[in-house]
Amino acid sequence: MISLGILGSGSGSNMQAIMDAIASEQLNARIVIVLSDNPDAYILERAAKNGIPTRIIDCGDYRTRFPEEAQRETARQLKEAGVGLVCLAGFMRLVKAPLLEAFPSRILNIHPSLLPAYPGMMAWEQAVTDGATESGCTVHLVDEGMDTGPILAQARVPVLPDDTAATLHQRIQVEEHRLYPETIANHAATLEPQLPPEGGR
Ligand code: GAR
Repeated sequence: MISLGILGSGSGSNMQAIMDAIASEQLNARIVIVLSDNPDAYILERAAKNGIPTRIIDCGDYRTRFPEEAQRETARQLKEAGVGLVCLAGFMRLVKAPLLEAFPSRILNIHPSLLPAYPGMMAWEQAVTDGATESGCTVHLVDEGMDTGPILAQARVPVLPDDTAATLHQRIQVEEHRLYPETIANHAATLEPQLPPEGGR
């Protein structure tokens, strides 16, 4: 069984989908820690309600940057909790070397577009503004870039003529909640459950 650490900044509906997949035994995992850069994020409340330990990531006065010191401390806390796979679930800061080196091939992200289309923030709004006829979601391994890492799985949804950013996001999220737990299970099956001490695969 793999131990998951979740990083999120918002509502945490993807984490809820992961918890549901664990409860229905579709995903052989446990969530051992949830970290957020936003002390008011609902993801923290969801975790607490389910008895999962939570931590706040202190990014000081930086609104969007993820300072190196905060990344090192996050890696330390994830390791202390025994995390074998890190799942970004609506986490809105860019992960860089300190975390990537601590968890090689062990950080996944869910992004609300068919990457490489529409990386970055509010991808669903970008798709509507751009007049796209199709969008979806992508699960990928995290690298140094913005939503650029190797793609593991995608799901497609249509963009309907009367879609708003909100209605498209809702349709995408239905697919996210199915795709993310499934892809976590598939990726976890390629890994040793425990992170080797030297940090390799
Ligand atoms: C999800 O749609 C996720 O794909 C997106 O934020 C939302 C979080 O929802 N992530 C990104 O845009 C990352 N670039 P949730 O908090 O309800 O899971």
